[in-house]
Amino acid sequence: MKTLFINIKELLQVREQFIDKVAGADMSVLPKIENAYLLIENNIISDFGPMENCPTLPEADRIDATGRIVLPTWVDSHTHIVYAGNRIQEFVDRINGLSYEEIANRGGGILNSAKKLNETSEDEIYEQSKLRLEEIMQQGTGAVEIKSGYGLSVDGEIKMLRVIKRLKENYPIAIKATFLGAHAFPIEYKENHDGYIDLIINEMLPKIANENLADYIDAFLETGYFSVAETIKIMEAGKKYGLSAKIHVNQFTAINGIKACVENGALSVDHLELVTDEDLRALHNSKTMPVALPSCSYFIIIPYTPARKIIDAGLPLALASDYNPGTTPSGNMNFVVATACIKMKMTPEEAINAATINGAYAMGISATHGSITKGKRANIILTKPINSFYELPYAFGTNLIERVMIEGQFI
Ligand code: NIG
Ligand code: FE
Repeated sequence: MKTLFINIKELLQVREQFIDKVAGADMSVLPKIENAYLLIENNIISDFGPMENCPTLPEADRIDATGRIVLPTWVDSHTHIVYAGNRIQEFVDRINGLSYEEIANRGGGILNSAKKLNETSEDEIYEQSKLRLEEIMQQGTGAVEIKSGYGLSVDGEIKMLRVIKRLKENYPIAIKATFLGAHAFPIEYKENHDGYIDLIINEMLPKIANENLADYIDAFLETGYFSVAETIKIMEAGKKYGLSAKIHVNQFTAINGIKACVENGALSVDHLELVTDEDLRALHNSKTMPVALPSCSYFIIIPYTPARKIIDAGLPLALASDYNPGTTPSGNMNFVVATACIKMKMTPEEAINAATINGAYAMGISATHGSITKGKRANIILTKPINSFYELPYAFGTNLIERVMIEGQFI
């Protein structure tokens, strides 16, 4: 099956040569072809170029994209979209003056979601979660990482990861699963951290590996959650099962955790609302992608990741949603891109690079996703008629997406 897009006003993120990520000043370059065509064969990008070179191909379905922009779908490398229920009451409690930390200390927060998760059946969690997956696909996300971490028990964590596996099997979108048993200490382990870490390493991990349920491992490296030393144990245990780390770090405090993540070969370090010069030094010449989650900063009113400091230091940066019931009940990557431009002073070029090719790197799929490159998956956003791609972040809150193609099929 062939689909030929013609008269595309701007074809964005065109990479003739394979690249796995962009860093520093290169992030401000977003290669594009004006008045372009794009040929999709089955689920693969097979050809593109300026309209004067467009092949005739009478057998292809033709889509006239006059006035419209085509770009690769968003790659959301950090979400928690598998969960039960919601945390709407905590949202109102925060409006009335309680902090995220105070709510967590009262047994709310992650432990609140864990209680709901453990009380809900696998089928029901699947039904709730698939709606969120369908929602983000409509919003232009073509690949997504999904974490466990609201089970905090052997059965709960496995249940979450099985739901992620079912989503992988039933939807065309690329999904990576991350085991986040180390999200918080359950109440019964509050004074027995070693006991819970032992449960993660010696009971959860072997079962998860045995069922092949996870691609990556994560921990919440934060004051009051998992210490640097505890996170190192988790990363080392993950490595034994071939799971690279993607770590929540530097959200509320900077305790030199990024260096430990880099030294353990982490694929990404996520949040980074606080970044010290020492953290930047650790990231230099590393293979670890920093990931910013601006919707989280927006929703719980904490500082935004200092994107300028990171990019101007020559480092790469990815953008992801963090879609979860507590700190970010939204998976809209269009809002993420707009907020990165508005609040983090990223240029539209930088933000689109961060939400496509760098996101793909942060979930280990840049060989197949994140750019318009021959041979990559046919994951395409077709916009409504717009003035230029700058309008995407400018008109924040307006849905400018006309159609989304995932694996060669319009959804
Ligand atoms: O990425 N920071 C840790 N984990 C999630 C939030 C978890 C929750 O509050 O449910 C995050 O923000
Ligand atoms: Fe998160």
